[in-house]
Amino acid sequence: PLQENLHVDVCVIGAGIAGLTTAYLLARSGKLVAVVDDGPVAGGMTQMTTAHITNMLDDRYFEVEKLHGREGARLAADSHTAAIDRIETIVKQENIDCDFTRLDGYLFLADGDKRETLERELEAAHRAGLRAVQLLERAPFRSFDTGPCLRFPNQGQFHPVKYLASLAQAVKHEGGRIFTGSHADRVEGGVPGVVHVGKHVVTGDAIVVATNVPINDRVAIHTKQAPYMTYVIGARVPRGAVPRVLSWDTGDPYHYIRLYDDLLIVGGEDHKSGQATDTAERHSRLEVWARARFPMMGPLEFAWGGQIMETQDYLAFIGRNPMDHENIYVVTGDSGMGITHGTIAGMLLSDLILGRTSPWEALYDPSRVTLRAAADFARENSNVALQYTDWLTAGDVKSADEIAPGDGAILRRGLEKIAAYRDEQGRLHERLAGCPHLGCVVHWNRSESTWDCPCHGSRFDPYGKVINGPANKDLAPADRSHEQRAA
Ligand code: FES
Repeated sequence: PLQENLHVDVCVIGAGIAGLTTAYLLARSGKLVAVVDDGPVAGGMTQMTTAHITNMLDDRYFEVEKLHGREGARLAADSHTAAIDRIETIVKQENIDCDFTRLDGYLFLADGDKRETLERELEAAHRAGLRAVQLLERAPFRSFDTGPCLRFPNQGQFHPVKYLASLAQAVKHEGGRIFTGSHADRVEGGVPGVVHVGKHVVTGDAIVVATNVPINDRVAIHTKQAPYMTYVIGARVPRGAVPRVLSWDTGDPYHYIRLYDDLLIVGGEDHKSGQATDTAERHSRLEVWARARFPMMGPLEFAWGGQIMETQDYLAFIGRNPMDHENIYVVTGDSGMGITHGTIAGMLLSDLILGRTSPWEALYDPSRVTLRAAADFARENSNVALQYTDWLTAGDVKSADEIAPGDGAILRRGLEKIAAYRDEQGRLHERLAGCPHLGCVVHWNRSESTWDCPCHGSRFDPYGKVINGPANKDLAPADRSHEQRAA
């Protein structure tokens, strides 16, 4: 933990893939860097990702081309390809043992989708410069026939936590410092920028906020992206029974598949965060889908979930923070492609901070307004507005007695809503259910045992401790409710 005041060239908040890649590239260029994170290294969404390292854009090249033009789609393809290459270079340079492998990726049709989707995507991918993408009659799975598919060659996969553990060592080796268990309470722009961490401050000529969702921006970026939960299962398969490839279907939400050693990892069942009542069933549905295609799967050994920030125009926000001082940078909006977007952030932000130009600057500019995405923008924001009507509804249960050990529910108590969690020993823990970011009511996620905000991505553990921004404070204790009302 940080135990002194410190001045550095660049302070990075967040020790995930984006923060540590940025810190590493800047440290290698001679900058004095400090990284602060309230948890351990890779303790946020980077430890949840299935780490498909790919230039197959999951929103489709033909859609990206519609919003960003042919040149935009080409730059998107270039940047994701460059991210895969950069990861490979770093792995070699630093001799990182993280199971990095190059492999092919296959995009196949979801039930009910038509070959035409693949044909359109093939043409758009070729126009974006990915000339090696091919249309094939089936992916190489023996246990089920995918039907026609696109093959994206030369993709990558690795173990994200092993990669970041070594990247953290490399940052330190280059003279950088990493402070975990150090919560950034507040960020101030200006010269220098200031990051308040408890009793101490880190000042920096530049500040990078890489906290998955920015903790320093109250509104500007949050109206342009929306949080979605995604779910993952893992089960052993006999060696050689499933080919080592990445794979995705074209569904919405889509399924994604990879192999780690003899562990088959299948994900999907996404829904808008805090807006599904059947979170406990998502893993079972995923299992049914997977077993129909991979009947050789053993019993489930893993089941987990993570959050994705979907931007209105399919690409991450990376660059100077909108409406802020010039020296405050952000990265957010992973769009389900967090490993490549996080690595692109490292390359792009280090270029900007070092005063170099980058061909990707405009494409990822957090201030961009993509007019062609206006309909989606309006839809997502009216969905957020709708969430405030939660304050008018009843609780999930009438009384805390209805909450079983290990479960949580929202209670109504007068004008207040209470996020009540009963621990395995039967003790009840109550917090105010109003999200400290902008006041939406959090919802219980039974599958993940978290309180998820349906508005902009904040998440809290069962006891109300914040685990994902933009909220930067815990849920308030319920016994302070009268103070809150007075405020
Ligand atoms: Fe914005 Fe909760 S994340 S109100």
